[in-house]
Amino acid sequence: MSGCERFDRVILSDFLEVNRRELQNWLQEGKSSIDWTSYFKYVCELEGRSSSAWAEKATRLRSVVSNVLPLDVHQSCPLSPGFLPPSGADCLVSSFCLESVSHDLLSFTNALGHISSLLKKGGYLLLIGALGESFYMGGPGLYIPVVPLDESQVCASLKAHGYELLQLCIYHLPPDMKVGVDDVTGVFFAKAKKA
Ligand SMILES: C[S@@+](CC[C@H](N)C(=O)[O-])C[C@H]1O[C@@H](n2cnc3c(N)ncnc32)[C@H](O)[C@@H]1O
Repeated sequence: MSGCERFDRVILSDFLEVNRRELQNWLQEGKSSIDWTSYFKYVCELEGRSSSAWAEKATRLRSVVSNVLPLDVHQSCPLSPGFLPPSGADCLVSSFCLESVSHDLLSFTNALGHISSLLKKGGYLLLIGALGESFYMGGPGLYIPVVPLDESQVCASLKAHGYELLQLCIYHLPPDMKVGVDDVTGVFFAKAKKA
């Protein structure tokens, strides 16, 4: 939502067809079953704007999304070729994905390497994820295993792929946010530059 203010072309991706369909539905105004208004309003406020700018932001976001593509972070070429410039994307955002689809630290680090191939040299990575999480419930009775990470492992994985870490923020979950749908202890927000 914030990225669309800075970039003229944005590609969205997810592994699951059902998730991509939801994104496609939202792109066609009036087709989504999810109301994102409150999220848009909140992001406008975080950006220091009035929440009433939300509709303008939604229009801007719809206008810059060029594709919604399948992606598998466990493949060395995670995205179909031909959608990115040959040098790679200017910026890559990955949120709560790598740790939740990797069975161990090596798999997480390898997946980070795979998505890094999509980013140009000197490009920026925003990597957001869970710390200390061993599972989350994807739905009633649907237990999804996660690789539990600590801060130093995230930094080491970034370093292993030649990133310069520019900023790392950690959000520690307060007890009232531990409601049993997962065992997350914190969230990391890393901003890094690809060497
Ligand atoms: C915990 S959800 C995070 C969703 C969203 N990015 C967010 O920040 O809320 C994990 C996501 O990883 C996707 N996923 C599962 N396997 C994947 C894979 N092999 N490659 C890329 N994404 C995958 C799922 O479809 C799901 O959308």
